[in-house]
Amino acid sequence: MSIRDLIKQGEQIFIDYQKQDAIIDARLLMMHLFNEDYGWILMNQNKTVPEHIKQSYIYLVAKRTQGIPLQYITNSQEFMGLDFYVDERVLIPRQDTETLVEQIIKISKTKPITNAVEIGIGSGCISIALAYYINNLKIIGIDICKKALEVANKNIKMYNYQDRISIINSDVFKEFSLDDEPLDLVVSNPPYISKYETPFLMKELHCEPKIALTDDNDGLTFYQIISQDALKYLRNGGIIAFEIAFNQAENVSKLLYENNYKDIQIIKDLAGKDRVVIATK
Ligand SMILES: C[S@@+](CC[C@H](N)C(=O)[O-])C[C@H]1O[C@@H](n2cnc3c(N)ncnc32)[C@H](O)[C@@H]1O
Repeated sequence: MSIRDLIKQGEQIFIDYQKQDAIIDARLLMMHLFNEDYGWILMNQNKTVPEHIKQSYIYLVAKRTQGIPLQYITNSQEFMGLDFYVDERVLIPRQDTETLVEQIIKISKTKPITNAVEIGIGSGCISIALAYYINNLKIIGIDICKKALEVANKNIKMYNYQDRISIINSDVFKEFSLDDEPLDLVVSNPPYISKYETPFLMKELHCEPKIALTDDNDGLTFYQIISQDALKYLRNGGIIAFEIAFNQAENVSKLLYENNYKDIQIIKDLAGKDRVVIATK
């Protein structure tokens, strides 16, 4: 069977399962198996697919019909122009989170940011993107989930950033101690879906780790803990930066205000929704 015919078959299965983006997913899975780009697929449409690739293709199409995100099947997600390894152990990096990283990069142009902590490093996408775009930045990435840290480690090694990003298995700051200068930055995209919203969202997000999504409370738990604890480690003038849900700006700003942070700013994402809150100690 040719590449073209097999893609057509994959597309038809996705259509039968009423999957959106049927043709795109059918092509992406083929690109993944051949480890080639779309241009190559186009040029080689009439090539016969070797039997082992055909079997793998059918298997991956079946996985996708079960609702497994494409990123977990191809083990890859792009973020800030960089490629990250992902699997079921971590949250898939979201484009929305680029707003947080972009804001920090912008600040770093006027205010040196050389040492930082990220709470909830997950795949490592935020820390690695910050290290990639901000020269001389060193980061400690914290996560409570050992399996997530395995993925972060894999990505850190892929970018050869072992000397710039280190990881700690910890519940927020519990296992962290400052052995150098106070921090210029504490950044986090914490689990912020409340327990009231999870039943509605879990259908869509059922493959991603629950611990990465919800605080099993009102959605604000981590903002409160991190804002309070970060005061011990940030230098005066240091930055705290959070990703938030579109409806949390007021509550998170209030928490920061109550913890005596200054210059509290709310930044919108590309869709015009409140997405980031940044403040200064
Ligand atoms: C929303 S995900 C963010 C992952 C990644 N930074 C990103 O933006 O794609 C939140 C992360 O926080 C971690 N986490 C959850 N509870 C934690 C805790 N108590 N202490 C540290 N990390 C925690 C989860 O394991 C998960 O990796």
